[in-house]
Amino acid sequence: MSKLIVKGRQRLEGVIPVQGAKNSALPILTAALISKGKSVIHNCPSLTDTQAAVSILEHLGCSVVQLGHTVIIDSTCADGCEIPDDLMREMRSSIVFLGAVVARCGRAELSFPGGCELGPRPIDLHLQALRQLGLTIEEEHGHLLCHTDSPLKGCEISLPIPSVGATENIMLAACTAEGRTEIHNAAREPEISDLADFLNGCGAHIHGAGESSIIIEGVKALHGAEHTVIPDRIAASTYLSAAAVTGSDITVTNIIPAHLRPVLPCFAEAGCGIEVSGRSIRLTSPKRLGRIKSVRTMFYPGFPTDSQPTTMAMAATARGTSVFVETIFESRFNHAAELIRMGAKIKVEGKVAVVEGVKSLSGAAVEAGDLRGGAALVVAALAAEGETVISGVHHIDRGYEKIESALSSIGADIERTEDAQEE
Ligand code: UD1
Repeated sequence: MSKLIVKGRQRLEGVIPVQGAKNSALPILTAALISKGKSVIHNCPSLTDTQAAVSILEHLGCSVVQLGHTVIIDSTCADGCEIPDDLMREMRSSIVFLGAVVARCGRAELSFPGGCELGPRPIDLHLQALRQLGLTIEEEHGHLLCHTDSPLKGCEISLPIPSVGATENIMLAACTAEGRTEIHNAAREPEISDLADFLNGCGAHIHGAGESSIIIEGVKALHGAEHTVIPDRIAASTYLSAAAVTGSDITVTNIIPAHLRPVLPCFAEAGCGIEVSGRSIRLTSPKRLGRIKSVRTMFYPGFPTDSQPTTMAMAATARGTSVFVETIFESRFNHAAELIRMGAKIKVEGKVAVVEGVKSLSGAAVEAGDLRGGAALVVAALAAEGETVISGVHHIDRGYEKIESALSSIGADIERTEDAQEE
């Protein structure tokens, strides 16, 4: 098992190019299944979650070639419509394969996606919407048996919550359905627009992605396309947090600054200087951060839940008290207990965490319990005195491409070790 060893208190300086967005790459890889032919996806991050998506595509009969950050998927001969349990459990977002497999084959057999560290993550909205499109879904012993005797039929779907995954599943299933589908209260995340751009490149007719109402005019079939995945706004905000807690001066490049608009005010409030220019953001941070009065996670364009843990790591050493309200997931403060081991003062009550900033954190042995919580431990470790040993690194590897290389390239003292005894 890997561990990250971090010696804190190093000043970071330099330029850090940001990887492609995990949360875009996964649905786009999935979408490549629907088109008959070859799709070329650039800027695909090398992550364990990407590998999991590739394994599912190969299992379904696609041929997949990976050349650096480009993934070439030939779905011409893909005729599989069953995804075994072990592949479904690899990642939560495997559930978007449901819409794609149904669009491709008219039937699908898969199990519920992997359990999650963030509390229960139901898929009722996905299933309800696909049923509205005409899919028959039987839920038996943890399996979903889905079929339709006639083509799916476009309809109006109003989502009670603007779920990212449900919006993606509907888009995937509806782009080759008969007639027009309207999604109301759709998710507006940039990754939704990126998926729509790829699907439109494949010949789909999707309008309004990025807004609350998305209209999909069904087409007969899709063809392959070439596409470049958008930059990862969450990875970018993680690296900005790393700079913020270390009194540093870094520039994140290869980003779309507008996608970071929801998080930038927090950095400014904490006393950081922010310069936006073209596709980069430079952050300079003071010796000690000021508090961030309150952070309330919301659907895009609100403050992203995925940046809440790394922002909490910033608040841990800020001057004053910060309050975090997590409105998206039920159990997304698991990192707080590990930050407390490092000397943070955090009180969690339900969906609220109160963080009283301390002067300094001290290195400790901590364990990442989920992806972004793990990133928060890395940020905290960079600020802490002494050495921090982070285990559970496989969670971090799901979403960050070689986090230790990225951070050491700008001056962090961080390395990965393999613990042979635990293997
Ligand atoms: C996606 C992102 C994840 C991010 C999240 C919220 C990917 C691969 N993952 O996850 O990183 O944290 O958006 O921005 O893109 N819900 C239901 N029923 C459903 C579906 C969702 O009740 O059928 C609820 C969830 O429990 C949660 C909320 O809706 O409380 C938002 O979930 P959703 O937007 O669906 O998140 P994901 O697509 O799973």
